Amino acid sequence: MNIPANPGDVITDATHWGRDDFPDDRSWVRPIPDWVIDDIAKALPGLRERTLHPRDIRPEHFPLPRSGAFLAEVNGHLEAGPGFELLSGFPVDDFSYEDTALAYTGLAAHFGRISIQSHLDEYVVDVSDKGEKMGTGARGHYGSESLPFHADGANTVTLLCLQTAPEGGESLLVSGAAIYNAVLGEHPEYLDILYRGFHHHRRGEQAPDEAPVTPWRSPVFSFYGDQFHITYVRPSINYCEVEGTVITEAENRALDFVDSVIARPEIQVSMSLKPGDLQLVNNFVVLHSRTEYFDTPKQQRRLIRLWLDTPASRHNGPGKMDWYMPEHSRFLATRGHLLEGFAALPN
Ligand SMILES: [Fe+2]
Repeated sequence: MNIPANPGDVITDATHWGRDDFPDDRSWVRPIPDWVIDDIAKALPGLRERTLHPRDIRPEHFPLPRSGAFLAEVNGHLEAGPGFELLSGFPVDDFSYEDTALAYTGLAAHFGRISIQSHLDEYVVDVSDKGEKMGTGARGHYGSESLPFHADGANTVTLLCLQTAPEGGESLLVSGAAIYNAVLGEHPEYLDILYRGFHHHRRGEQAPDEAPVTPWRSPVFSFYGDQFHITYVRPSINYCEVEGTVITEAENRALDFVDSVIARPEIQVSMSLKPGDLQLVNNFVVLHSRTEYFDTPKQQRRLIRLWLDTPASRHNGPGKMDWYMPEHSRFLATRGHLLEGFAALPN
């Protein structure tokens, strides 16, 4: 259970963890039980027949009658536990690619609504190397380079691994609460800067007539509904300077300290996703990263990514939706007026 938290509190609940709590030995990975796999296989034909758009898939379209306890445990870990889960044994070899993606989407719908991920209208994203480089015009999920620690959009990001690369592509997670506690304990003078937050570059997600930089600041650390929230994408902050936004020396010092905390090996949890592994991460609680990977002609890394919007969650803080798809952000619709510089979006 999460302990209510407010600015200045040291966070001591299950959202605070480090490397030693989740060693890189898969001892804590949760296998998907056989009866859940059986439920998934039985629910697939019905979902296939409905030919629904992913955004319209609801749990009742993919009934999993014997999986209730399993789903509740996973959801509890995302919502009130460490904020992430790694499941193993999703039957990726039993289905075609299309059926695997559909079954994954049906299962994921039990954890939240399938959310849009970009203005290309992407809902089910094939994560593989398409030669894209991260920059002011691209977000980086179609490349193979290492990605700095960041949060994704909506409540939860989930990946299903179909194939690994022969080398690299390790998945890394860091507890937002661990970062916050370090700033609070070691450099509390940076907190006001991090609560005030930063403008973010929209990296090609804006319409041609829209500014490339958000006119509002998003806090790195915030507290809503007695819950701690983090959101952080350092490159999206830095790219604003290209557009003329000034980042002060004090702001850069605060950001550099956050980066130095994130880089501490003892707070990073590392895992190598294997085919059939299904990772879920709460974007308001955990930052994630991926190391560079190297495909070969015979073996290419491939995953399917979904973003899940979870209206029932107690976590609804500022985040990536606000920068890239503000019209789909539940936070801006409900609490955006609390951000510095935010003006209500047109209906
Ligand atoms: Fe990401």
